[in-house]
Amino acid sequence: MNIKLSFDPASQLDTDVLIVPVLDHGEKDKNEGRPAAGDDAIRNAAKELAAANEITGKSYETVLFHHPQGIKARRVLFVGGGQAKNFTTSEVRKLAGAAVRFLKSKNFKRFAILVPELAGDAAGAVRAIVEGAFVANFDPDTYKSDRKDQSVEEITIVASGAPDQIERAVEEGRIVGESQNFTRELVNEPGNKMTPTMMAHRARRMVEGLGMPELTIETYGAEKLHELKMGAFWSVAQGSDEPPALIVARYEPKGAPEKPLIGLVGKGITFDTGGISIKPSDGMEKMKYDMAGGAAMLGAIRAIALLKPKVRVLAIVCASENMPSGKAQKPGDVQIAMSGKSIEIINTDAEGRLVLADGLHYARQLGATHLIDAATLTGACVVALGYINAGVFTNDDSMWEGFHAALKRAGEKMWRLPIDQDYQELIKSNIADIKNSAGRQGGAIYGAAFVDAVVGEGTEWAHLDIASVAWFEEDRPFSPKGPQGPAIRTIVELASSIATRPR
Ligand code: BES
Ligand code: MN
Ligand code: ZN
Repeated sequence: MNIKLSFDPASQLDTDVLIVPVLDHGEKDKNEGRPAAGDDAIRNAAKELAAANEITGKSYETVLFHHPQGIKARRVLFVGGGQAKNFTTSEVRKLAGAAVRFLKSKNFKRFAILVPELAGDAAGAVRAIVEGAFVANFDPDTYKSDRKDQSVEEITIVASGAPDQIERAVEEGRIVGESQNFTRELVNEPGNKMTPTMMAHRARRMVEGLGMPELTIETYGAEKLHELKMGAFWSVAQGSDEPPALIVARYEPKGAPEKPLIGLVGKGITFDTGGISIKPSDGMEKMKYDMAGGAAMLGAIRAIALLKPKVRVLAIVCASENMPSGKAQKPGDVQIAMSGKSIEIINTDAEGRLVLADGLHYARQLGATHLIDAATLTGACVVALGYINAGVFTNDDSMWEGFHAALKRAGEKMWRLPIDQDYQELIKSNIADIKNSAGRQGGAIYGAAFVDAVVGEGTEWAHLDIASVAWFEEDRPFSPKGPQGPAIRTIVELASSIATRPR
């Protein structure tokens, strides 16, 4: 998708459709939406419709208006952005997405969008529009034989403000949006087309395609797991005929100090049957997205490399299938993780924490000072938070502060859940150091507590359980159903804030 910039007055732009954000100012009995930017001609066009109660500013409301007077565009699409007092970059991102999806469904390939005024943050609004547009332009129907290319070709952003800052914002928005879509493409693939080996191959292709000396990748198979004594990761991989893949990508910009080193670790289960503790067949097809955490880390390091913050980043993906077979591990088995900790396997379906245990330990061994892991770890997290928030756990309050600020800037929703030492009691095993399942209650927390036990003390660490937000079952106004690519934007924000943090 091509993004063009225009600094002309909105009403003078020659285009098929001009998108105009409209806000609800909440004036009692005056149910009228007002344009969030634009000149007199735009305001006048809105006035009549607002008076007739046809535009209210309600979120995602779309009104297409033909041949507006005094405006060069053939049509104006008014799109609601909700209440003016709650209007932030997060709303701008979703509004832009909703407008793109609306016009896409009507087969428009080229159109323009007017940047809403946003308390002096013109660049932030532009970046959010571009991100939202890329997210909305994603189509998950890859394997339909009568598939028509529905994608939008070109969007003109009608902006005001310092051109160099606005141009930079467009570039950043494109990098982040395209990285998120790279991740979604991987997650969208079915298990037979996204084996661990394929995932490693796609990661390599992405890195080599960028051709940047500061971004490198290594991919390994089973022998490396044995060499590193990754007994927890291997215990999951051993049951499958498909070999596992350990993917290690590094971003090492010139002139960045040795420390901090951000370690991103992702769960890359390319299909999760549950193993011997096999899942019910109802809904099992969804377990192709059990590699969404790993795919997110690849998207994140792609975005970071292109945005070029002065901080070193390491991404590790532990990719494997989780299958039942004669070679598969069994409940009751004891495994020795890379860290030396012994693990009793209670449930072979609690496999994500096992691969993370070794991935995180390896990241620490490679010198990571800040660890973030992302995983579709537990169904319990979906039960706790619904399909709206991801779960976030951290052992460090100051890390949470930085993380929370990054979430806000990224416009992502994650809710902090507790992980104090009391939870460690329930993952103690009778035969080994820890066990991989503590039953149903507090499932998301015990998953995190297990990961906490293997990370140990001394490293800032955050664990993101993205099971609830990695895949939408239904279309939303701003994004199609299917893979969503959560966590990337927040990690990108966090990396850039760590890069500029005084040391
Ligand atoms: N991949 C699943 C978690 C999951 C569930 C992701 C629904 C996305 C949607 C994970 O490996 C799993 O099976 N977790 C078990 C853990 C239990 C056995 C302790 C779960 O949540 O039931
Ligand atoms: Mn599982
Ligand atoms: Zn899983």
